[in-house]
Amino acid sequence: MNYIGSKLSLLSFIQNSIFEVAGTTNEIFCDLFAGTGIVGRHFKKLGYSIVSNDLQYYSYVLNRHYIGNSQNLAFSNFPAGKIFDILNNATPKKGFIFNNYAFGSGSNRLYFSDSNAIKCDSIRLLIEELHSNNSISDNEYFFLLTSLLESIDKHANTASVYAAFLKKLKKSAQKDFYVAPAETIISHKPQLVFNQDANKLIREIKADILYLDPPYNERQYASNYHLLETIAKYDSPVLIGKTGLRDYKNQKSEYCRKQSAVHAFADIIRNANAKYIFLSYNNEGLISFDEIRYIMSNKGKYGYFEQKYNRFKADKHREYSADSTTEYIHWVKCE
Ligand SMILES: C[S@@+](CC[C@H](N)C(=O)[O-])C[C@H]1O[C@@H](n2cnc3c(N)ncnc32)[C@H](O)[C@@H]1O
Repeated sequence: MNYIGSKLSLLSFIQNSIFEVAGTTNEIFCDLFAGTGIVGRHFKKLGYSIVSNDLQYYSYVLNRHYIGNSQNLAFSNFPAGKIFDILNNATPKKGFIFNNYAFGSGSNRLYFSDSNAIKCDSIRLLIEELHSNNSISDNEYFFLLTSLLESIDKHANTASVYAAFLKKLKKSAQKDFYVAPAETIISHKPQLVFNQDANKLIREIKADILYLDPPYNERQYASNYHLLETIAKYDSPVLIGKTGLRDYKNQKSEYCRKQSAVHAFADIIRNANAKYIFLSYNNEGLISFDEIRYIMSNKGKYGYFEQKYNRFKADKHREYSADSTTEYIHWVKCE
């Protein structure tokens, strides 16, 4: 998934930095701003127990599957290998997504083609029905929801995020979408997934490696990914404005406002119970380099790594002049 602040292309930088400072023998890796879950997934594959968390429900869904599901799922109520055929051939139904985010319903919004919106509704409704009549387990439910979110996201008619839709259907949005199975990462270690404010959760958990990747600018994830949230929850929210935003006052991140970001960051570091803390942040973030160094140094021995990084696609046309930023990994060995 193309995601603001995704660490997909920085995985080796993150792994090398962590191994250099903390070695390879740690067991519990906490990823408290998990987003797509790509960092937790990487460390789960390396054999760690992951504690994953994010404020957004769509992110919880993704991580509930990628981190929480560790065995291939049987779908024992269905003929072997048939569940995705059943979903892809679900009886067409016009639901919340078609009615509010496709042009054919008269919504005046063009986030999806009419046929993809109807298909998304049909599949989403079927997954809910199968879960509520106990034809699928909780694990299977989150696996199917993750597969739907990942598949439909590739056909969204947006420049990259859901803050606005394009005026004409772009090529990938014109193509019919099919739900394809999401990857399942096999593991025999315990894995935990939460959907909380990281500053609350920090008070209840203990980590060997605490990895923090909070938002670094004012762009709230709740408004940039509101459609994924609605597909995940399918809770028919009241919508506002031209872009059909759902209310997100309870999901506004303190890390997206200069006034509160430093305070929230100092609070999470102060309350961390970890052997090592690693923070991904870039040189254009709301919290300054010196503020980070000061706050983290109070916790123990501090250091940092840096790497040049190509800017997120959607940001290239914005107000920035440079095409690359410097990505830092700040670390502290806690005392
Ligand atoms: C930079 S992104 C993380 C990207 C992730 N590492 C990846 O590679 O996909 C920041 C994430 O923090 C989440 N977030 C923001 N404030 C939060 C908070 N107070 N508690 C938990 N998650 C939060 C956002 O929803 C977003 O998914």
